[in-house]
Amino acid sequence: MTKIATHTWNPGEYDRFKVERSQPFFDLVARIPERPIEHIVDMGCGTGTLTATLLNRWPTAHISGVDQSQSMLAEARAGISNSQITFVDGDMESWQPNHPVDLLISNAALQWATDDVKTLGGWVSLLSAHAILAVQMPNNGSSEAYRVHSRMVRELEWQSKLNGLRPNSEDRKPVATYAELLLDHGLQVSAWETYYQIRLADVADIVTWMRSTVMGPTLAALAPEDQARFLDEFTLQVERVTEPGRHGVWFPFRRMFLVAWR
Ligand SMILES: C[S@@+](CC[C@H](N)C(=O)[O-])C[C@H]1O[C@@H](n2cnc3c(N)ncnc32)[C@H](O)[C@@H]1O
Repeated sequence: MTKIATHTWNPGEYDRFKVERSQPFFDLVARIPERPIEHIVDMGCGTGTLTATLLNRWPTAHISGVDQSQSMLAEARAGISNSQITFVDGDMESWQPNHPVDLLISNAALQWATDDVKTLGGWVSLLSAHAILAVQMPNNGSSEAYRVHSRMVRELEWQSKLNGLRPNSEDRKPVATYAELLLDHGLQVSAWETYYQIRLADVADIVTWMRSTVMGPTLAALAPEDQARFLDEFTLQVERVTEPGRHGVWFPFRRMFLVAWR
């Protein structure tokens, strides 16, 4: 089982690729069917920028953005001031709302749960009678750069320093596993996967992207001098497997989506 070491989220670094990271959220929202929505919960809301856009579609809704990162919550509270939106310090694996939820959305966060299947099942129990559940999470373990990360983490030298830590990208199950769980709970489900072909300037950008997310726990578990060595070696290996294009480098990114409703 994956051991997820805690790491500190860096909102500035995370938002560096805001456009590329926002697109899956908007694609998810676009597939949510029309329903009366009053109470919305955004699990793992991060900096809250995307949470706030939900008011464009549901202008009268009350939204709780739940996150357990103090740095992300501080950014959210400083950047968004709206009486309809509350940012809550909570663990998305156990947090309970005061009202049944009409729309529970979670973008790029469920992969951080210690048990994603159990957490998803728990979210169903928070839903109102006509609710919608909408989830997007990365499923990018088979991409070259993610494979380099996994391979390095498994090397004896690094394992001795990482105490059995594994990247969370290794834990994703086939999208059908999550869809079947939702069907078991009596929901209708629309599920799909897609590859975003992300164009970045160079390999250094791929490294920055990954260090701000999936590689965060790996680096947090290492001493500073080992972090630098890990990053150098990682960069070298990703350079070897990345074909430069005429307009930068391509970073294929696979993501899974689930929209479920009663
Ligand atoms: C990749 S960010 C996504 C943020 C936001 N949803 C977005 O799309 O911009 C993942 C977020 O999940 C949060 N997170 C991870 N595990 C969590 C947990 N157990 N409870 C609450 N939040 C969690 C992190 O703190 C982080 O802000």
